[in-house]
Amino acid sequence: MIKVFVPLDSAALSMGADEVATAISERIGSQDVTVIRTGSRGMLWLEPLVEVETAAGRIGYANVSVDMVPELFVSDFLSGADHKSKIGLVQDHEFLKSQNRITFSRVGIIDPLSIADYESHGGLAGLRKALTMSATSIVEQVTESGLRGRGGAGFPAGIKWQTVLNTESDQKYICCNADEGDSGTFADRMLMEGDPFTLIEGMIIAGIAVGATKGLIYVRSEYPHAIDILNRAIAVAKEHKLLGESVLGSAFEFELEVRVGAGSYVCGEETAMLESLEGKRGMVRAKPPIPALVGLFGKPTVINNVMTLSAVPMILADGAAAYQALGDERSRGTQVFQLAGNIKQGGIVEVAFGVTLGELIDTYGGGTLTGRPVKTVQIGGPLGAYLGKDSWTVAMGYESLAQAGGMLGHGGIVVFDDTVNMAKQARFAMEFCAEESCGKCTPCRIGSTRGVEVIDRIVAGEEQSKNLELLEDLCEVMADGSLCAMGGLTPLPVRSALKLFPADFGIKSGVK
Ligand SMILES: Cc1cc2nc3c(=O)[nH]c(=O)nc-3n(C[C@H](O)[C@H](O)[C@H](O)COP(=O)(O)O)c2cc1C
Ligand code: SF4
Repeated sequence: MIKVFVPLDSAALSMGADEVATAISERIGSQDVTVIRTGSRGMLWLEPLVEVETAAGRIGYANVSVDMVPELFVSDFLSGADHKSKIGLVQDHEFLKSQNRITFSRVGIIDPLSIADYESHGGLAGLRKALTMSATSIVEQVTESGLRGRGGAGFPAGIKWQTVLNTESDQKYICCNADEGDSGTFADRMLMEGDPFTLIEGMIIAGIAVGATKGLIYVRSEYPHAIDILNRAIAVAKEHKLLGESVLGSAFEFELEVRVGAGSYVCGEETAMLESLEGKRGMVRAKPPIPALVGLFGKPTVINNVMTLSAVPMILADGAAAYQALGDERSRGTQVFQLAGNIKQGGIVEVAFGVTLGELIDTYGGGTLTGRPVKTVQIGGPLGAYLGKDSWTVAMGYESLAQAGGMLGHGGIVVFDDTVNMAKQARFAMEFCAEESCGKCTPCRIGSTRGVEVIDRIVAGEEQSKNLELLEDLCEVMADGSLCAMGGLTPLPVRSALKLFPADFGIKSGVK
């Protein structure tokens, strides 16, 4: 039987992948061919990327449209024959070849809803191992791996798990943060659409490790396909006794459900997410107490990002040392970078920490889509700093980026060419904060609105020295006085834009 793979990932669907899959199915006739839907390989500029299994491996055909399907059959693409859209063996593609895919090892390869496919590609090995270990040893493995939170703050996952493990309670929870609100980020979505069992397995292991019997995945409402696939994957997992009263026949119980957010950026902040999960308005809670001690419905709760939890099965399966061996300084393992914005080759780059920013943008990304010079990149979402070309040699990692004035966040990198106006970007940062602020504290709620006005006055050339001083004061108050990172980090993009590109603000010479 010949296998043809067509992605069902949202990015591929937006480029007509469903229609292509239907057109291929209709033409198969009596031939022994099956069309399998997979996630995306993460080479988004090639979508829809159709693959055909051959003895040598999977041959790819890029940017396939419904109109191209008849000619693909005439060219005998089913045997991997030549066609103008052929890109050769997908695994040998320049973009993929040098990546070190651990978390994304199965995405784009397996049928996301087939447990058999999942297991035959290494799935469930981590869970089976965890079931033979004590809770303490599982947590130790996670700690020794050096895994840090991939949602933004980079907090060590093992320490968080240990706190929940140590806290006595009749009920504990595992909450997965799949709100993925940062600009230019899509790794969580692609993992949930392309390999949901990895996340489910990671959450079950977390439950066993800390003594939690219930898990919730908080997904943004803008991800209908991910929500659908997750719900179907949970049903399959229940059928196969991965979830339920006895996980794989063991004494452990674990139940899992999907909860849908309502389109608020601040609900990605973990305590606002808890409020939302409890059915309340998404307002940030003051810390302490931390959610590991007093979390969902007042119970000890592990809150981790999709990428953090999805790294766990591999860490358990291959051992902490294998994961720890990768990376740079205190940033261990791999990071799933997301290349977005004005970039020729946008998509997923999973490599060990330590890769330089320049390599990511130029080697993997191929520079800007417009072909114009890169002016700046924003890393870490709307609250991340702008970096210029002088940061191209920065090795990507939590501390190294912080030293360069930036932050890694969720690993999204948005590229801008030389036509971008950075005063507008700085204004947007303040505007975004004003729009998304939960309103609980004054520096963020009021400061962001005043920030927009002050930037407008600077750009209009009104009393620039005075207004620049005022903007700096405002940034200082927001950074030091905000209750959470929403208001606290908004000054990062504003200050960096001003520092790197003062001319865009129309600052007159002599003005400080
Ligand atoms: C305004 C704001 C938005 C956030 N959005 C997200 C998000 O969409 N996804 C996420 O995982 N973490 C987000 N975070 C970070 C979470 O508060 C929290 O640190 C994270 O979910 C913990 O998981 P981790 O340790 O695995 O990263 C956000 C934080 C802030 C302040
Ligand atoms: S910084 Fe902004 S989002 Fe965070 S608690 Fe204060 S008002 Fe709410």
